[in-house]
Amino acid sequence: MMSALKEEKRGSFGSKIGVVLASAGSAIGLGNIWRFPYMTGQNGGAAFILVYLGCVFLLGLPVMLSEFTIGRRAHSNTMRAYLKLAPGTKWYLLGGMGVLAGFLILGYYSVVCGWTLEYLFQSAAGNMGGKEPEVFSAMFATFTASPLRPLIWMVVFLLLTHFIVVRGIKKGIEKSSMIMMPMLFLIMFVLIGRTLTLSGAHEGLTYLFNPDFSKINSSVVLSALGQAFFSLSLGMGCLCTYASYFPDNTDMVKTGVQVTVLDTAVAILAGVIIFPAVFTYGINPSSGPELVFVTLPNVFQNMVGGYIWAILFYILLALAALTSTISMHEVVTAFLQEEKKISRVKAARVVTIGCIIIGTFCSLSFGLLGHVKVFGLDLFNLTDYVASKVMLPLGGMFISIFTGWFLDKNTLWEELSNHSTLRFHLFKVYVFIIRYVAPIVIGCIFLKEIGII
Ligand code: TRP
Repeated sequence: MMSALKEEKRGSFGSKIGVVLASAGSAIGLGNIWRFPYMTGQNGGAAFILVYLGCVFLLGLPVMLSEFTIGRRAHSNTMRAYLKLAPGTKWYLLGGMGVLAGFLILGYYSVVCGWTLEYLFQSAAGNMGGKEPEVFSAMFATFTASPLRPLIWMVVFLLLTHFIVVRGIKKGIEKSSMIMMPMLFLIMFVLIGRTLTLSGAHEGLTYLFNPDFSKINSSVVLSALGQAFFSLSLGMGCLCTYASYFPDNTDMVKTGVQVTVLDTAVAILAGVIIFPAVFTYGINPSSGPELVFVTLPNVFQNMVGGYIWAILFYILLALAALTSTISMHEVVTAFLQEEKKISRVKAARVVTIGCIIIGTFCSLSFGLLGHVKVFGLDLFNLTDYVASKVMLPLGGMFISIFTGWFLDKNTLWEELSNHSTLRFHLFKVYVFIIRYVAPIVIGCIFLKEIGII
């Protein structure tokens, strides 16, 4: 009774499909459509994708189930979850690191979200047609380096996120995901149909699916691991926070598999959309973060009805990004609301303002603050590095250790099988992975990258 009352107050998702679409909405975002293709391009194509798939299914899915378990068991924000499940220990620091990572990632992620709005605006204004490929490159560079415009779009995007988050779990997060996710799937298929008929399709697909194993090295592996965690929204308690709103009858194993498969499919399909275009228009596949902002305009201007498709694509890219930003925002908002005992609106306001400040620095690093380098990285790339290559893998490693070694097996079983009412045949495999495989593999990859082994 007490816990039912409390849950009522915290809010929860209302339907199975809502749970899946909200979690998939968190996972599917710029990480799939913007970051995955350029990471693939920078890390040698198909070989990277293979390593990525290994990371997703061997490490990502088990860590996701662990986050689900922690979240639903504790029914609270990601830091309080550890205080509840491991009272009197230092495990709460893991939750604290997640909240901090969420803040940082949302800060730099919003910058790119802002870019999608600019591209939407430019497409609608009819400025994206009849240009040479180099012109799009130059446009992108000029826009991102300008001091004010990207900042305004970033603030607009954070405000959109803000207004969904303050509406709460069911009316804000769940409802928006139920509308936005199906639209995203639909438009992706239409775009695939177009790019597969481009002249560079064969070359693009070969690059994507024909691995050259000599390209695999430790940095490729770390990038794949970081990308897997980033794309699945793991390592900072994001899905843990969402799971705290799951109803008791949610089949978490099934949900985890569905979210992982959807997320991976969308990433690969984004590659199938982008690489044929890259090779058709002679763009360098390793050009980095600008990849989708420079290649896709080329695709659109050559498509019949490209004007409309471009607009639709950028609307949908923005929507995919929005379902992800609300999930990061929610992590920090839920934390502040519950720990500082302030209203949801106030908590959300603090998060939004904080992210605007971080985002401003990241955005300016493409122009005015471009000369500011820390460890050779500008502020945008530094934030990306610290959050997604340091904090997410470390977070994932400690989440595995926590669920594998600290929580007892019965608790794990109870949550993942809904008190033995569901089957989970691979439970033993799961436990083996989170006890041994995940901590050791993540630990080694991480130590290797920072140069200790
Ligand atoms: N997964 C999202 C994407 O692919 C981004 C994201 C949302 C995220 N929540 C997260 C990344 C938590 C890391 C951690 O775009």
